[in-house]
Amino acid sequence: MALREIVKYGDEVLRKKCKPVTEFNERLWQLLDDMAETMYAADGVGLAAPQVGIIRRVVVIDVGEGLVELINPVIVSKKDTQTRMEACLSCPGKSGLVERPLHVKVQAQDRNGKSIELEGSELLAVAFCHEIDHLSGTLFLDIAEEVFDQDDEPKE
Ligand code: CO
Repeated sequence: MALREIVKYGDEVLRKKCKPVTEFNERLWQLLDDMAETMYAADGVGLAAPQVGIIRRVVVIDVGEGLVELINPVIVSKKDTQTRMEACLSCPGKSGLVERPLHVKVQAQDRNGKSIELEGSELLAVAFCHEIDHLSGTLFLDIAEEVFDQDDEPKE
């Protein structure tokens, strides 16, 4: 495993439309392991492949309920809404209020290519949406109702 450098806001790679993963091989597993290590080292709850410069549909998430790996994820249903403060490892010093679904269902593949379906609510639903948005080049800053610099962020 190895730490990878996290790409920051302004880098064009964050705006790319990611390609599907077609080969479930050691190279993918290395990427997944490195992404998880990088996410944990940065104290993040999610990381998408373009954030480490890889234009593929790969996401890792851990909102405190264990590591989730998503290959070629798609949101297949959404229910109700919530508005939460979000941040992003690629946008240091920024946070913003974003409206998201309260519940989402995601179809994806695991690291071996097997089809999986996952459901998430509250923070996990936000993480699914935020990370899957990265795969089409969308950042939370693009859709936030309001964006804050770290200094004027309201305290909860
Ligand atoms: Co992000």
